[in-house]
Amino acid sequence: MPRFEPFHQQLDALDNAGRKRALVTPVGKDFSSNDYLGLARSSYLKETACAALDNGILHGSGGSRLLGGNHPQHEALEIFAAKHYGAEAALFFSTGYAANLALFSTLPQTGDLVLHDELVHASSHDGMKLGRAETQSFRHSDLTDLTGKAAAYRRAGGTGTIWIAVESLYSMDGDRAPLAGLAEIAGANDAVLIIDEAHAVGVFGKGGVGLSGALENQDNVIVLRTCGKALGVEGGLITMPVVLRNFFINRARAFIFSTAPSPLTAHLVHKAIEYVAENPALQTQLRDHIAVAENRLGTLCRSSHAGSQIFPVIIGEDNLAVQIAASLQQKGFDVRAIRPPTVPAGTARLRLSLTLNVSREDITALADALTEAQKMENAA
Ligand SMILES: Cc1ncc(COP(=O)(O)O)c(C=O)c1O
Repeated sequence: MPRFEPFHQQLDALDNAGRKRALVTPVGKDFSSNDYLGLARSSYLKETACAALDNGILHGSGGSRLLGGNHPQHEALEIFAAKHYGAEAALFFSTGYAANLALFSTLPQTGDLVLHDELVHASSHDGMKLGRAETQSFRHSDLTDLTGKAAAYRRAGGTGTIWIAVESLYSMDGDRAPLAGLAEIAGANDAVLIIDEAHAVGVFGKGGVGLSGALENQDNVIVLRTCGKALGVEGGLITMPVVLRNFFINRARAFIFSTAPSPLTAHLVHKAIEYVAENPALQTQLRDHIAVAENRLGTLCRSSHAGSQIFPVIIGEDNLAVQIAASLQQKGFDVRAIRPPTVPAGTARLRLSLTLNVSREDITALADALTEAQKMENAA
């Protein structure tokens, strides 16, 4: 058998199913990135980076935070983030993925139960796989199902901590979690609520804190914010009680055995959070974009969309989603098809994301092109 034959076979199978992935660099109007506020391309962050380098801030950390890699910029960011988001403490990771991996593999202990929404991100799943606790999913945003599963665990004699894991704004559907109800259930079950704000930070909440602002100071709430989406840089920040920060520093392998993010990155994230807080006009502009898109794209989104910058256009069949995305790309729109396993089977979709990298006119033009593409799809 030729070398690597099983890999060829698996890739061929993915190709035949319309699920083979390939890397392409962005071309066309941006309807696919998570750079919601346009900060990744902003002159503000570019100038901030140049000034920081000129002032001697390092572009490499040189090691793990526990060795030579802990720099004043990391500490300044964490002190600022804890205060800004209203938590006792914060810890910065190189990506949101690493932060989720660390969180779920470190905090839930043997005998605990992690109850996670069925649609939480792959990074949370991967952390759970590395973790020691039992895990169960509950139906998407279904508080009754969650309550029932928490009660069943206690009835069966479970005495550990229940960790409830959700996203505040779901990445592939753009719908919001019922956070108040989730917090109530967490309180009633002596559980800890873990909220992934990846797609809400910067976009929602006063000063861009996200959707969990009102809950943050509760001692049973942990919040994860990624810094590579609306904040335009990269990294993941977990805000939490100080005892948990200390626990991460001592026990989280993804934190301990990894080179720290660069001091430059930490500085840029710090400045990006401040910039978003000082420029509420960014949120207002995005909200205007959302209103235009709801008006023009609302009927095309075959899903219960709920006032966010993420517009899923559910196509269903994998190959068809890829074809429609390709036809829009040819017309100059950077639109990508999202297929299983990222989304459930039978729900392949175009995930349209709105950013300040496009104009209102671009949104209208995309809506026209999409209407055209769907007419062709229906005629076929
Ligand atoms: C909900 C959610 N959490 C975590 C992550 C991982 O964050 P990062 O891209 O910073 O690794 C993502 C990335 O898409 C996400 O959508």
